[in-house]
Amino acid sequence: MIDQIRSDVNILDIVGQYVQLHRSGSNWFGLCPFHTEKTGSFSVNEPKQFFHCFSCGRGGNVFKFLMEIEDLTFPEAVYRTAELAGIELDAKYLPQNAGAEDTQSETGKLKRLYAQAGQLYHHILVNTKLGQPALDYLHERGLSDELIAEFQLGYAPQAEILQAFFHEKKLDDYQTLRKSGLFSEREGEDLAERFNDRIMFPIKDQTGSIIAFSGRLLTPDKKLPKYLNSPEGILFNKRKVLFNFDKAKKTIRHESKVYLFEGFMDVLAAWRAGIKNGVASMGTSLTSEQIYLLEQTASKLYICYDGDLPGRKATKRALELIAPLSKFELGAILLPEKLDPDEYVRKYGPENFKDFVTSHERTELEFYLEYFRVGRNLETESDQLAYITDVLEKVAQVKDPLARDLTLNRLAKEFELDKNNLTSQLQALMQQVQSEQLKQDQANSLKRSDKVVYSTQQRQEKKRYSPAEQAERLLLYRLLHEHDVFLRIKGLADFSFIHEEYETIFLLADGYFDRYSEYESASFLDFLKDEHLRQIIISLELGDYGEVNEQEISDCLAFIMQHSPLEEQIKVVKTQLEQAKRLGDAKAIMEQTTKLIELLKKKQTEKSII
Ligand code: GTP
Ligand code: MN
Repeated sequence: MIDQIRSDVNILDIVGQYVQLHRSGSNWFGLCPFHTEKTGSFSVNEPKQFFHCFSCGRGGNVFKFLMEIEDLTFPEAVYRTAELAGIELDAKYLPQNAGAEDTQSETGKLKRLYAQAGQLYHHILVNTKLGQPALDYLHERGLSDELIAEFQLGYAPQAEILQAFFHEKKLDDYQTLRKSGLFSEREGEDLAERFNDRIMFPIKDQTGSIIAFSGRLLTPDKKLPKYLNSPEGILFNKRKVLFNFDKAKKTIRHESKVYLFEGFMDVLAAWRAGIKNGVASMGTSLTSEQIYLLEQTASKLYICYDGDLPGRKATKRALELIAPLSKFELGAILLPEKLDPDEYVRKYGPENFKDFVTSHERTELEFYLEYFRVGRNLETESDQLAYITDVLEKVAQVKDPLARDLTLNRLAKEFELDKNNLTSQLQALMQQVQSEQLKQDQANSLKRSDKVVYSTQQRQEKKRYSPAEQAERLLLYRLLHEHDVFLRIKGLADFSFIHEEYETIFLLADGYFDRYSEYESASFLDFLKDEHLRQIIISLELGDYGEVNEQEISDCLAFIMQHSPLEEQIKVVKTQLEQAKRLGDAKAIMEQTTKLIELLKKKQTEKSII
């Protein structure tokens, strides 16, 4: 079944759901999702069905990718692959209930607790008297039952309900409850519920599992915060989470565009209006982690905050924050009449909101043209001058000459100015910007030269294979890919690889070919259980060996067999010993020393025979 799933999916389709990939030759490249980087070192090899990052060295097949990116176990990654690829699994392969295979780990326990709490809060909201006032309130704000169900909104009443419920579900392990963030500890061992009289917004990770809640007070109370979040912990990190990203990412990717809202209610309003690529941060400004996450899935980001002055200021702050950190094409939507998205939808209806948003996507520059007007009286000359100066400073940073020219035309027309004057002012400003840019570039190129050093180091590492080891690697590659080569080498009684790891792979390949008629790197990667061996396979597969020919195989064999294995082994053990010493690994030092002594003894006896 595992083989079936792996061969039914194309790793490109799965990785493509997380990383924007561009074709270059026979490979696809993108920004590595496992670390922050500005230039793409992450690649997907479609024919061989594996990914590899040249910078961090991570690599593997489709299952490995999902294990890493979604933090899944191997079986979970297999289910997830099937799910993402739309493969229906026979019921006998399905886990009894979600997360059932992971009841031991702490995150598994917490996720189950959250999933159950989410269901209970939702049930209370939609089915009980206790939840009726909250449900009425949400209806009043225009949320339909369908939307409430879609977002699994809930209600945490004033009453203490969770402990009895968890007890009934046999989920009342005290330590887990205590760590869950759903309670606060009173004196002694007593747990009090954290959320009281709050409308509950489940906060989900990328896979849609609840990892936290944000509760909005139902009955206004000046002494209490309007929104209360779960405390941060092993599951929940505010810096990394975006509300609604789990549901929105499909559309974000599809349209390569994301809308950033200020509040959860705004995201819901937009969703209702058919804008399904909206997210919100947890009431804080966007973090570099969140920007990075979004950059993986989209190329355009529009900020859609409240239409009032604080909203405009927040938009400017957000643009200034994001611009230097990302390659996004940025823009903003400026809502009229001081409305926030939620109010707009309620006032003019969902359809009109969608129309407004899609027809009022302003570029960054257009936003500033508007923004710099705020609080100025453009009838007066001094305010005009201040406005024009502000705008020109922004224009000077714009790369597109056409956009610059258009803006100058607009300014010249609006204020009845000579365009030539504006142009010369702009040129002076641009020179300033350029010299700053130059400084910046120099600083960057210093950093870049660090990188170059790093990559030549990597290349040197590759070159450091001795001629014998190069022969071994080529031969190993060939025998995996060309079965007649494999059979021929298997038939050689006294052949063995010099290096233990290549010999191990060779021996394991024998077991692999018992089961599979053909070699596929993605499947062999699953067959190998040892991560070090897997990395060897990936590094082999990354090589370019051209067509196989008979002479080459004979040469490799001759070279490996003639090359004194003893000398080579001694060299290998010596380097391993050095490394063990460097690491202060007493056990390894002992082992390698023993090995070395044995080899040296052997060499002695060989010499005496000669
Ligand atoms: P409504 O007031 O119901 O329309 O909700 P809203 O989502 O529009 O809230 P608002 O615009 O006041 O705030 C925007 C976002 O900031 C919210 O969605 C929360 O994420 C966050 N926020 C607002 N108030 C608080 C608070 O008191 N504490 C915390 N931690 N976050 C808050
Ligand atoms: Mn609001």
